[in-house]
This record gives sequence, C-alpha cells and structure tokens, in this order.
Amino acid sequence: MLQPIVWRYAFLVRYSMILVALATVATVARAEQSSSVAGTADQALLDAREARMKWWREARFGMFVHWGLYSIPAGQWDDRKWTRGGVEWIQLKAGVSADEYAQRLVPQFKPSPDFARQWAEVAKAAGCKYVVFTNKHHDGFALHDSDTTTFDAKDVTGRDLHQEIVQAIRQAGLKVGVYHSLWDWHHPDAYAGSGAVNVRGTSMKGREPKRYVAYLHRQVEELVSNYGPFDVLWFDYSSRTYQGKSWQADELLRMIRKHQPQVIVNNRLYRSAEAGWGDDWAKKRQTLDPRYGDFTTPEQHIPEGASPDVDWETCMTMNTTWGYSQHDHAWKSTSTLIRNLIDIASKGGNYLLNIGPKADGSVPEESIVRMREIGQWMDWHGESIYGTKASPFAQTPWGRCTQKQLADNTTRIYLHLFDWPQAQKLSVPLGNQVTACRLLGETPRQLDTERDQHGIQIQLSGKAPDTIASVIALDIQGLPETLPADSKP
Ligand code: GLC
Repeated sequence: MLQPIVWRYAFLVRYSMILVALATVATVARAEQSSSVAGTADQALLDAREARMKWWREARFGMFVHWGLYSIPAGQWDDRKWTRGGVEWIQLKAGVSADEYAQRLVPQFKPSPDFARQWAEVAKAAGCKYVVFTNKHHDGFALHDSDTTTFDAKDVTGRDLHQEIVQAIRQAGLKVGVYHSLWDWHHPDAYAGSGAVNVRGTSMKGREPKRYVAYLHRQVEELVSNYGPFDVLWFDYSSRTYQGKSWQADELLRMIRKHQPQVIVNNRLYRSAEAGWGDDWAKKRQTLDPRYGDFTTPEQHIPEGASPDVDWETCMTMNTTWGYSQHDHAWKSTSTLIRNLIDIASKGGNYLLNIGPKADGSVPEESIVRMREIGQWMDWHGESIYGTKASPFAQTPWGRCTQKQLADNTTRIYLHLFDWPQAQKLSVPLGNQVTACRLLGETPRQLDTERDQHGIQIQLSGKAPDTIASVIALDIQGLPETLPADSKP
C-alpha cells in the first residue's frame, strides 16, 4: 500500500516544478480549459498534460503503420479473399486457430534489412511529424524483444524490430508512437469476446484473465523501460463490457507515467463517456477526463461536433484496410487525403493517416505516391496546418479555415479555398483591421483587400493556383471578431 502514496508524492513534487515553468507561458484559453476540468483531476496532473501535449497539438499530421504477421497473407487465406475492411483481422475472419496462424506465418516472416528507413522517409516526405506503428496487433505477435513470450520478432527473426523501427523514426527527426493491442488472440488467457479462435477455443471457459493482464502489464513495462523515452502510446481497444478495470488500466497508466511522464496516451484503455466515448460520438460534444487518456480517437471519420477543449486524432486508412491487402484497390485520391487533413486541422484535430506495408516491410507504391503528393502540397502550404488552431467561423462555404496567433497581437487566418470564387472576390466576415494578405505558393502573391459592412473583401485574379486547395494567409489585428454574416447554417 505504501508504494502508490510515495509515488503520488514524488509525482506532485516533480510536476509542481513544471507548473511553475508553465505558469509563465500558459495562455488564457488553456487556463480556462484547465479550470473546466479541474474538478475531475488534480491540477498537477492537468499541468503535466499541458506540457506533454504541446508538440502533439502543433504536429497536426502523423503516419500510422499497421504491419505484422498479418501482412503476409495480405488479404487472402487459401482461396478466400477480402477486398474490403481490415485484413489485419485475417486470423479471425478466416477462423484460423492461433496455432495454425502462427505455424503458417512465422516461418514466412522475413523483413528486408533496413525496411524501417523507408517508412521514416515516406512519413518525412509527406510532412508527417510523428509515426505510430503496431508493436503488437490483435494477433498477439510482438515486434519488441519480450521476455514474456517467444511469439515475438526477436525469437523469430533474431532482430529486435521494435528497436530498428524506433531508431529509423528518430533518425528522421520524427516523434515515435507505439500501438499496443489490448486484445490478444494468441495468449491462452486473454479476453475471448472478440470471437477469435485461440488455443482455448472461443469461450472464456478455462481462461484466467488475471494471467493475461499480468502479461499485458509486463509487456508494456518492457516497452516503457527498454527503449528510451518515446512520445505516444496507442492502446487498442476496449468494449463497453471489457474495459478499464478489465485491464487494470488505472494501475497500468500509473506504471507508464512512472517510467515515461512525457508519453501521450490515447483513450482506448477505457470505453466510457468520461473517456470520450459518447452515445452519439460523432455529433455530440465530447468530453475527456484526462485521467482516462490524453486524446480521443475517432476512427475512419472526422467528427462534426469536435469540442475545442478536447484533443482528438482521426485515424484513417488510405484504402479500406489497415494491414496490407493485395485485393483492396479502393484508394482514396490525394485530393481527398489533403482535404481531410485540412478539414481536421480546421476543426482542431490531428490526422493519423495509415500505411500498410507488405510482408517484407516495403511500402505499397499507391501509398508512396499519395504521401509524396501530400508532401508537395505541404511544402508550400504546411504553415497553414502546423501549429494552427480550429477555424473561428461557423461556416466557410468555399473551403476551410485555420488560424494562428502571432506575436505583436496579430492573428494569421488561413483560408483554404476548395472552390476558387468565380467572382474573383472572397468575402471574409471579420471586423478586424487587415495588416497583410498573400496567397501561399512557390511565388507568394500579395492580395488587395477592402472593408465593407460584410467584413473583409479579398480581391483575387486568374485561376486557382492549386486545384486541391489554394491558401490565403490573411493577417489581422487582434483576435478574430466574426460578424453576423458568419451565422450558423
Ligand atoms: C480497430 C481495429 C484495428 C485497427 C484500429 C485502428 O480498433 O480493431 O484493426 O488497428 O482500429 O484504429
């Protein structure tokens, strides 16, 4: 009993120091945000969270990587093929037992040397600021060198793939995120509710969930102890009936924070309203009590009612599967992906865009092309995404908007034009004085502005410089003062 109290004390002392440093730089908005949840968690905890979220809030764009044993069948088991949906679930989809799955796939798992460098290059070229990779997915195969099992990459390949991946990502100057599955279709005592056939069949009969939870905690402890500091821990996932307590999540989080106070943790150890899972999640204003995680995780969609004081990250596939499939050709266009990124930034969230490398670790050509094209757009327009905040407007029929507070009491408003106005005029319903206005691009162009009763009128000319999204940077004095023309639709 003594340990948690001692730990808590050390925690408070450490974070009261951070609090002092933060007090000088905290913005009014953030202070308000903290006070709105102050009743639910202690202040030191909230302040520590503000500190660790800083880079993440500025990053806005990350790359997800789903890669493991499931990348080998690539959406096909014997003659059964899957053209849609997550084929990292192939063990369950094909109804294969854990033993058969392992026996068939382990001997074929032969990642090429240096594959992780390509991942890092692809992420970097796209303009991502962080990479989250699947250390262990639901099939239970771990990429890190684990003392808890032989079902891991080191035992199978002689290589610590976790280490290789982390090193490659760090070398590229990117932040590192680790996905770790709570479900485990291999461990004989793990939760069986998902329906996968493991060595003990599909029911909970004969299982000792406590043994699995101890195993899960030990594996996570290895991750947070053996590979140096990293940046995001991405758990997956909980159901309403199996969550939080079922994983001894409070204890798990305490252990994680003890080793890695800076690591940002998602909300999937829990599945409750407090942890950001509402009934009508997409529409309802979310809440997130920071005791349950640092950010929420909308999957495959962009929430409409994103709350300004909740950190969130939409994760999304480029086709319809997370793990590589040779049969899924439903690739989203680069235009859709870029506009998703803009849409998410305009609502104050992050975009975690997935790639599913092939069995040898190589990135599919379709993903490389799209990531490169996103990077080309980011080269000229990245400043309208990184470090920005949600749009001040209720509606932007011509596209989307982000904003950034600059020094000297200026706000830079970024107007992302999906549709170039035929009238060559853009009306921006703001009452502020304009200090500068330019079109971003290889050769930035100054734009003339006028004021009238509807707000600021920006004079345009010619064709859209970018067919996906042209961006205007409009500098105004003070914080944005929106005019009645910007009423809710
Ligand atoms: C779901 C799926 C999983 C995927 C994840 C990404 O939880 O189970 O296959 O890894 O979503 O968010």
